[in-house]
Amino acid sequence: MSSEVSQEPTTEVAQEPKVSKSELYATLATQLRSLLEGERNLIANAANFSSVVYHTLPDVNWVGFYFLHGSELILGPFQGQPACVRIEKGKGVCGLSVAQLDTIIVPNVHEFPGHIACDPASNSEIVVPVFDGQRLLGVLDLDSPQPGRFDEQDAEGLNELVTIFVGACEGRPDEE
Ligand code: SME
Repeated sequence: MSSEVSQEPTTEVAQEPKVSKSELYATLATQLRSLLEGERNLIANAANFSSVVYHTLPDVNWVGFYFLHGSELILGPFQGQPACVRIEKGKGVCGLSVAQLDTIIVPNVHEFPGHIACDPASNSEIVVPVFDGQRLLGVLDLDSPQPGRFDEQDAEGLNELVTIFVGACEGRPDEE
């Protein structure tokens, strides 16, 4: 005779362990240091940076770089949907970050005058300027489908990651 084990319905839902933003950025900083170690090429490092951040941070649908060429930003390595290639200084959130030389947090992109929409799924955005010493190289841009996704902790964490990125690329020959 087979004995049947009755399966009581349960209302318990398995909880994902909650990782705080500061823990997440600390982990990302460690991952990034080891990923970029020994490589100075800007494009290769920007590509791996975009990938590790895209696959680690929750609720992001675009992570990538725009690099400055004169007064124009040109699309660099990224993860996410195809994006607009050229952005003039002062235009959109990226261009504003260049003009103001500052991190810009946009809780609702639909309320931002002049926002350049690349992925219609995006609802909030953060743009961090990338400085190589005194020189502005470009910006790091992150989009999220979640309104109000980015805050001061993200700004701080991403600026720290950008510092690691610039440090890894330091001393690269211009042609590299
Ligand atoms: N939304 C940006 C354009 C770049 S995409 O988001 C990838 C902007 O307004 O500058």
